[in-house]
Amino acid sequence: EDSEIGNYPHFMLKEIFEQPMAVENAMRGRFSQDNSTAQFGGLNIEPRELRQIDRILFLGCGTAWHACLVAEYLIEKYARIPVEVEYASEFRYRNAPLDKNTLVFTISQSGETIDTLEAQREAQRKGYRVLGINNVVGSTIARENDGGIYQHSGPEIGVASTKAFTSQCHIVAMLSLYFGRMRDMSFSEGTEIAKALKKAPGLIAQALNHAGEIESIAKKYAHHNDFLFLGRQLMFPISLEGALKLKEISYIHAEGYPAAEMKHGPIALVSPDCPTVAIALKGEIYKKSLANIQEIKARNGPVIAITDAGKEFPEGLADDVIHLPETHEINHATLMSIPMQLLSYYIAVERGCDVDKPRNLAKSVTVE
Ligand code: G6P
Repeated sequence: EDSEIGNYPHFMLKEIFEQPMAVENAMRGRFSQDNSTAQFGGLNIEPRELRQIDRILFLGCGTAWHACLVAEYLIEKYARIPVEVEYASEFRYRNAPLDKNTLVFTISQSGETIDTLEAQREAQRKGYRVLGINNVVGSTIARENDGGIYQHSGPEIGVASTKAFTSQCHIVAMLSLYFGRMRDMSFSEGTEIAKALKKAPGLIAQALNHAGEIESIAKKYAHHNDFLFLGRQLMFPISLEGALKLKEISYIHAEGYPAAEMKHGPIALVSPDCPTVAIALKGEIYKKSLANIQEIKARNGPVIAITDAGKEFPEGLADDVIHLPETHEINHATLMSIPMQLLSYYIAVERGCDVDKPRNLAKSVTVE
């Protein structure tokens, strides 16, 4: 039934709207009884051993690689474990020196991506323990790894990943809680984060309520052939993902950048013909993010802002503003992905593109 399109015009839109459930499924049975940490039944590794880990390496391709970057930010921040991220395709040929106490994670929706599979095999050949985050149960990567976490997102048919990505973001957020509680994170911070994580499905549903408004914004900008996506820190991988989504399904040239890097090159692209999608979330660098938007406006670049600042967001600063609810940072990657997906979906539809089967792309790349 999951693979039926129902009343939706495209699988991609159906899968975008399935995200509250996909994230709910990713959490089911995965919190401790005292609600202070996450738990995963399939890791196949003792907590005692996990405490010995000095470093974690995440490997993936495409959208899954962006989930790896989300993992890097959240695990470093909340668990204080150094994390590295590599494209699986590069890792398999690079012969990277790894610390003895490195744990490797591969992330792959399909569990069949050849570069990720071979990177996993290469790490295992060198004696590293490899855990996986996969959606497809019984897939090759899931069968061959040493343990892992199933996403339970249900089948993802649209070539551009949506619900599988946010589910990966949510799972790595839960991992950061799990690893954090093994180390320095307090009980009270643990319960606060667990409580926040459980609110994600409702928050995603609220973001989906903006679909009509995002469709109108998409129509306004769909004729442009270049886009910039800007976000800082945790929002940097979400900007990369926003740009990738747009490229994949609408064939528009788009680039994601950490906003402060603008001045080191990309700002040269800013013009009335190149809109910018800018994420500005409240917190330490909120004012800096506003200043980055100001720099674009000063150069006549149209700006679509995504913010959780509500009325605090300065009137008239951006051309269009998508307001999302405020939540704990632990949910930001999952939540802020939603307007990105809707925007690229509606832009691609407006341009008459084959959203579910974009040219030149395969759902899963099983040959090198
Ligand atoms: C292909 C798809 C991408 C996907 C990537 C990794 O390139 O077109 O959308 O992100 O493979 O797929 P995986 O199944 O390993 O997550």
